[in-house]
Amino acid sequence: MGGYTLTENAPLASRNTLRVNARAKLLAELRDASKLPELLDFPAVRSAPLLVLGEGSNLLLAGDFDGTVLAMETRGVQVEQDGDTARIAVAAGERWDDFVRWSLGQGYAGLENLILIPGTVGAAPIQNIGAYGTEVAEFIESVEAWDTRERRVAQLDRASCAFGYRDSLFKHEPGRYIVTAVRFALPRSRELRLDYAGIREELARMGVARPAPFHVAEAVVHLRTRKLPDPAVIGNAGSFFKNPVVGAAQAEALKRDHPELPAWPQADGRSKLSAAWLIEAAGLKGSRDGDAGISNRHALVLVNHGHASGGELWAFAQHVIATVAAKFGVRLEPEPVVVGAR
Ligand code: EPU
Repeated sequence: MGGYTLTENAPLASRNTLRVNARAKLLAELRDASKLPELLDFPAVRSAPLLVLGEGSNLLLAGDFDGTVLAMETRGVQVEQDGDTARIAVAAGERWDDFVRWSLGQGYAGLENLILIPGTVGAAPIQNIGAYGTEVAEFIESVEAWDTRERRVAQLDRASCAFGYRDSLFKHEPGRYIVTAVRFALPRSRELRLDYAGIREELARMGVARPAPFHVAEAVVHLRTRKLPDPAVIGNAGSFFKNPVVGAAQAEALKRDHPELPAWPQADGRSKLSAAWLIEAAGLKGSRDGDAGISNRHALVLVNHGHASGGELWAFAQHVIATVAAKFGVRLEPEPVVVGAR
């Protein structure tokens, strides 16, 4: 009814995968995207900060949110066949992993390396989710968003979205756009991406000599399940730090001192370094202060062992940043959205 529900002083513990027990002054659960302008026009909503929430899997609530949390709960998938390509419009509130599995089940290729990533479809373009050698940007034709500045629906094509490594226009102009749907173009087949460390070995272990997209997806499921802590078991938001990109001279100096440091040369001559390696080499993997810590399975993952507050998790993240900076002269940046930090 009405397309949305409003709740005052709402608990958010079950709405963020770090399981931070924060509250929102107002929670708006939106089920009908066409009602968004009406909702945003409420005086209580108009006058306060807005936080758009999908599954809360890329979010650190460092404190309570003194504004409106807009939970995107819209659903729907529409397919148009265009030769061998499917053009698929997906509502922002759909779960990403459900969509990936559905697309593979329909016989479309492209998203196999991106299976099992938590979060919603609407969140995928914002940080340009990527894993195992594929980024979602490659398959996005356009993003439909409500432009809060122009007060109209915007259709942003791929170029306008300015995608980069864990980056997009939506991060450059925070607060301006609210993603309501994403349009994908998926082929029936593509050259599979098997080069990322571990994939070929996993396929060999599975006894697959000529892989199809669903085999690659299965290999990625095995790799992720082995490496990354499951948010259903221990609170986490996936990689908490981005892999830092540094200048060639700094990368060379670091490689001279630490030949084992994984580094990937970028097109612009700079180098992307493994943040997980830096954190582990700084002795922080598996470390904790109270219930806030770094996973003992993967050094990029900040974990909540039980009842850490958002402030405690944020303080621990800053301890990691400071320790790595002191040891290696590299400043790590958080990857998730951090709100309410003091
Ligand atoms: N490594 C360590 N210690 C660890 C884990 C990794 O030293 O505890 C080193 C290893 O040498 C390994 C290298 O780091 O070879 C890379 O590790 P991994 O393959 O796990 O990739 P990553 O660079 O740490 C990125 C993404 C992940 C994504 C994987 C696989 C970022 C910030 N993270 O991690 O994305 O799943 O590649 O493609 O780019 C996420 O964004 O939430 C996420 C999980």
